[in-house]
Amino acid sequence: MALREILVVPHPVLKQVSANVDVVDDDLRALMDDMLETMYDAPGIGLAAIQIGVPKRVIVMDLARPDEEPQPRYYVNPEILWASEETAPYEEGCLSVPEIFDEVERPARVKLRYLNYQGEQVEEDAEGLFAVCIQHEMDHLNGVLFIDHLSRLKREQAVKKVKKLVKAA
Ligand code: NI
Repeated sequence: MALREILVVPHPVLKQVSANVDVVDDDLRALMDDMLETMYDAPGIGLAAIQIGVPKRVIVMDLARPDEEPQPRYYVNPEILWASEETAPYEEGCLSVPEIFDEVERPARVKLRYLNYQGEQVEEDAEGLFAVCIQHEMDHLNGVLFIDHLSRLKREQAVKKVKKLVKAA
């Protein structure tokens, strides 16, 4: 496993639409292992492959609390089969938009279909933080960041702050 560099805004690759994965093989599992290690190191609770510059429809996540055992989750080619009309607000952040947090409103519950670490097809219902996180990560696969859901002014301010942060580092 290896740590990868996480791209931050306004890196143009983050706007790319990622491609479907043909087969879940050892090479893809090695990518998912690297993504998980990179996410834990950051630390974060979700990471899409495009955030390390790989335009594939792959997401890793771990929503376990600090006092719980790690619960790594892997999503390949995820699709949303159904989304509730009811929405819920959540204060989101993103490893590609460091130190910026703002409220985004998304469907409160979704039904998902994806391939897991073994390449098996799984259908799963998501609500609460899981629903927020999977929708946030799936946006990444389409080149969309959570700040794209905010006003233009807030989005521009966020990018400006991140640029300053990177410069100061
Ligand atoms: Ni993100």
